[in-house]
Amino acid sequence: MSLLITNIGELVTNDPAADAGDLLGVRTDAAVVLADGVVSWVGAAADAPAADEVVDAQGRAVLPGFVDSHSHLVFAGDRALEFQARMAGESYAAGGIRTTVAATRAASDDQLAAGVARHVAEMRRQGTTTLEIKSGYGLSVDDEARSLRVAREFTDETTFLGAHVVAPEYADDPAAYVDLVTGPMLEAAAPHAKWIDVFCERGAFDEDQARTILAAGAAAGLKGRLHANQLGEGPGVRLAAELGLTAVDHCTYLSDDDVHALRDAGTVATLLPGVEFSTRHPYPSGRRLIDAGVTVAIASDCNPGSCYTSSLPFCIALAVREMGMTPAEAVWAATAGGARALGRTDVGVVVPGARADLLLLDAPTHVHLAYRPGVPLVSRTWSA
Ligand code: NIG
Ligand code: FE
Repeated sequence: MSLLITNIGELVTNDPAADAGDLLGVRTDAAVVLADGVVSWVGAAADAPAADEVVDAQGRAVLPGFVDSHSHLVFAGDRALEFQARMAGESYAAGGIRTTVAATRAASDDQLAAGVARHVAEMRRQGTTTLEIKSGYGLSVDDEARSLRVAREFTDETTFLGAHVVAPEYADDPAAYVDLVTGPMLEAAAPHAKWIDVFCERGAFDEDQARTILAAGAAAGLKGRLHANQLGEGPGVRLAAELGLTAVDHCTYLSDDDVHALRDAGTVATLLPGVEFSTRHPYPSGRRLIDAGVTVAIASDCNPGSCYTSSLPFCIALAVREMGMTPAEAVWAATAGGARALGRTDVGVVVPGARADLLLLDAPTHVHLAYRPGVPLVSRTWSA
């Protein structure tokens, strides 16, 4: 079964082989053929081969599906009141996570799965075709393991975040909680996870604890990533670079040394502009990172506390308006950048052999994603 999408006014390929001056590898008057779950042909509409089915893009833009490399979708309840208080002047604190832990522990597996399904559907409607999902609202052996089992029903990009905050039962003995995370909890979680993550921040876990947890994860076959420098400068970003992690996420407060360390290590800086929007923290500068030679990804961080958006188009618009990124840089960061942050080469690009994950915009160019913020421009998605 093959599908020809033709009459594409602007095709964003992110093809690294394209003209080096064109970040997005844009082709105009283009066509794409999808077959057996992969892109089988890319070229000029005039040269398109025949296929079993044809879709006429009517001159609109086609892009790689968005790659959301950071979300926390396994949760119950919401924290609208906390958001409301924040908008009235309260500040965001990591401790709010425990509110969601209580609601998540009280939910059944079916309720958790239904919540994830609802949010994944929301993401799909907004163009996301690859997503990562973390645990981190269970914080007990059983609740972390079942969170990851639920997440695995929706994606292979699952992340064990038992080290989100210290579980309430261990408030007086964080060292014992780190022992639990690196011992029985890791053992129960590892079969369902690809990644291990630590919230390395004041109020969560310090540098030594993060090192210990990432080392235990690596020994169990999990790849490391970090939440770091979200609420203030700290050691997390430099630790990620030192360990050569694939990506480090948030990067809101960065020193020049942090930026240089990211560049030298080739660690992707994943920016989460929805968090700054929802916490009223200052936006980090994507411009500063890109100009320094750091690879930047954009992700949603969809979670009920610090940022309850599932929309990468919204995050792209924020990155352009608030982080000094061009529309092309922001679109790249939400597609090819997200793929880099997950160590993937089969998504975030439209080249022969890539997964057949694409989106069609109700607009002639990718620029409209930032130019028309808040407008549901994703007309349809294809997902392998
Ligand atoms: O990525 N930073 C830590 N974890 C989440 C927030 C979780 C919450 O507030 O519930 C984040 O922002
Ligand atoms: Fe997060």
